[in-house]
Amino acid sequence: FTVKLDDGEISKGTYPFFMLKEIDEQPIVMHRLVDAYTDDEGQVSIDSDLLAAMKRADRLYIVAAGTSYHAGLVGQALFEKLAKVPAEAYLASEFGYHQPLLSERPFFIFLTQSGETADIRQVLVKIKAQGFPSLTVTNVGSSTLAREADYQLLLHAGPEIAVASTKAYTAQIAAEALLAKALGEVKAIPEAAQFDVVHQLGLASTAQQALIEQKDLIHQWATDLFATTRNAFYIGRGTDYYVSLEASLKLKEISYVQAEGFAAGELKHGTIALIEKDTPLVAFISDPETAAHTRSNADEIAARGAKVLRIVTQAQAQDEDQIVIPDIDPLLAPLLSIIPAQLLAYYTSFDRGYDVDRPRNLAKSVTVE
Ligand code: AGP
Repeated sequence: FTVKLDDGEISKGTYPFFMLKEIDEQPIVMHRLVDAYTDDEGQVSIDSDLLAAMKRADRLYIVAAGTSYHAGLVGQALFEKLAKVPAEAYLASEFGYHQPLLSERPFFIFLTQSGETADIRQVLVKIKAQGFPSLTVTNVGSSTLAREADYQLLLHAGPEIAVASTKAYTAQIAAEALLAKALGEVKAIPEAAQFDVVHQLGLASTAQQALIEQKDLIHQWATDLFATTRNAFYIGRGTDYYVSLEASLKLKEISYVQAEGFAAGELKHGTIALIEKDTPLVAFISDPETAAHTRSNADEIAARGAKVLRIVTQAQAQDEDQIVIPDIDPLLAPLLSIIPAQLLAYYTSFDRGYDVDRPRNLAKSVTVE
């Protein structure tokens, strides 16, 4: 089907579904973001008023929903590491019920592909009434949340038609990396100066393309792991945990498999009771700091008869690892490790004969609370 938008028609072209087309567009989007937010000398260049407002903050609240919340979790790590400012990602629908604002000078970042999510708008109205500054990071410049926040940062990802968000997720992480770098630089944080985000995003684009080209191998894994399963598990630590949450949402929402992403260290606190013979489990291993622990968790699961797929960065890879991703700063590993996870979900749904772009009960933008 083709989709009519204000600025013309978007077509699937030769793709069976928009989701696969949008997965393929991610490497280009990395370059678009670098072009949009660097100057002629290749230095990160972001609105100085926005950076000044963020510099004054003693805490960043990243407020989002669904996939965008998962991108916000990665942003939390990026801002804390590169800009040395406390940052917390919050589910928009949870914010405010139990969230006493514990900071004098909070700054709110709303991460939202559509810019129309009602849960987020409720928070924006509330914090704006309290006089707190806000930024909307969105793919739709004309959206409500883009208009109503004090600042806007666009994702330049092009219209995302599939209900399951893919290129907006990686674009949000890249945008947060550029913003965290710029904020860290105006605060003269050494880690920001050392973090060559432009180079890293260039690496990410090339690596994403290489992973996308392994579609057929990943399709085989989708068949082997998920063709007949009712449940699935994803594990990781740190940003590998955050990408586990996103990977499980992708599989859940388009193939209706009951998937769960959880912190690898939590297995022994209860969840391991669910593991039985042939339970499919995907382990993300990208960070040298946590690789050994997560690998031993994966081995423990395999010893119980589960089917374990390891998605591992080159430097941490061992012979039996099935999907090896190019090395990248662990803070940005989700830009790469999510690619096989998006494709695993896509092929599982496709092979089950579902409408991948328009899964049951879901809307592209949740404009009701
Ligand atoms: C993601 O695949 C889902 N379609 C959904 O969770 C989405 O991320 C969420 O509704 C938030 O949407 P937004 O980014 O437009 O605010």
